[in-house]
Amino acid sequence: MKALLLVDESQDKIAIRDIEKPSPKSGEVLIQIKAAALNHRDQWCRIGMYPNIKYDTVLGSDGAGIVSELGEGVASDWLHKEVIVNPNINWGSDEAAQSAEYHILGMPTNGTFAEYVIVNVDRLMEKPAHLDFNEAAALPLGGLTAYRAVFSKGQISKGQKVLVTGIGGGVAQFAFQSALAAGADVFVTSGSEEKITLATDLGASGGFVYKEENWAKEALKSTGGFDVIIDSAGGNAMNDYLRLIKPGGRLVHYGSTSGVPKNIDMFRLFWSQASIHGSSMGSDLEFKEMVKFVSLNKIKPIISSVRNFDQIVSAFDEIHAGKQMGKLVVSF
Ligand SMILES: NC(=O)c1ccc[n+]([C@@H]2O[C@H](COP(=O)([O-])OP(=O)(O)OC[C@H]3O[C@@H](n4cnc5c(N)ncnc54)[C@H](OP(=O)(O)O)[C@@H]3O)[C@@H](O)[C@H]2O)c1
Repeated sequence: MKALLLVDESQDKIAIRDIEKPSPKSGEVLIQIKAAALNHRDQWCRIGMYPNIKYDTVLGSDGAGIVSELGEGVASDWLHKEVIVNPNINWGSDEAAQSAEYHILGMPTNGTFAEYVIVNVDRLMEKPAHLDFNEAAALPLGGLTAYRAVFSKGQISKGQKVLVTGIGGGVAQFAFQSALAAGADVFVTSGSEEKITLATDLGASGGFVYKEENWAKEALKSTGGFDVIIDSAGGNAMNDYLRLIKPGGRLVHYGSTSGVPKNIDMFRLFWSQASIHGSSMGSDLEFKEMVKFVSLNKIKPIISSVRNFDQIVSAFDEIHAGKQMGKLVVSF
């Protein structure tokens, strides 16, 4: 079968190779992948900026497909079902945090950038009926990360004023759509005016270009501040967020694309009674809740582009350049 491997021998660090089609063991299923989607994680792996890099692994955490073979002990009604895959492996029993054995599908375990993937049957959920394969493939990792950040950590509810930063991001667009569906008044930031226009067309109350020097001042003046900020960039903008948060508000961070801040305005942090929450992925329970929420609210991932699997390397280059608005999907 064709698969995209993380390799140590080319300058690209990723290559499509022919590898042996795997067979499911007891409790496992073989899924024929119809579509898969990129996450920034895949690009971090490619450039060696992810812990415990393991070469010759099939990358990819997001996928949707059809169950094509069952291992021993798997209920026969899974066969030929259209499914999505929960990318969590070994979250454990604590809702507060993942176990020490936790990892994510697609390095070190072979992932979804292949014609077939093996997962444990308990990783399967039926594909939401309102999504086609491309849309369903875009959902798992981003949908889960956004769900925990928005609801479990951000506690976002109707009428709250919310800022989602970097709306072009695959996770950010889910956070945006989830907060909107919860009835929040949602603002966005982006490096691009066009992406802000797209977000306002989809229901954002306004947006700010984070590349402009005075964007935070402008945002404070026009909005009066936010109850919750959902961010994955971090960096020096942390102090802007502390200025933008209303007294008692929450900053939720699930990434640090811009690195770490040089300093943190501690005085503002404690005087404004703000809290900073770290958030990563989500539990298996949250995965189920997220799929239910997405199905109930008929949320469809914003898809930046769909290309054939053979062209997947160009999708990595695009996510690196940050040109996308939403998810980059490859179809088989
Ligand atoms: N902790 C976890 O479990 C978890 C899960 C998923 C993702 N992440 C992390 O979260 C980040 C986003 O992941 P993703 O897959 O959504 O990536 P992505 O699709 O590549 O999105 C990255 C987005 O970051 C935004 N951005 C870049 N510089 C920014 C800045 N200075 N201020 C605000 N936003 C900025 C950009 O938004 P614009 O295009 O609008 O400018 C860009 O689209 C990555 O660092 C990833 O590793 C962590």
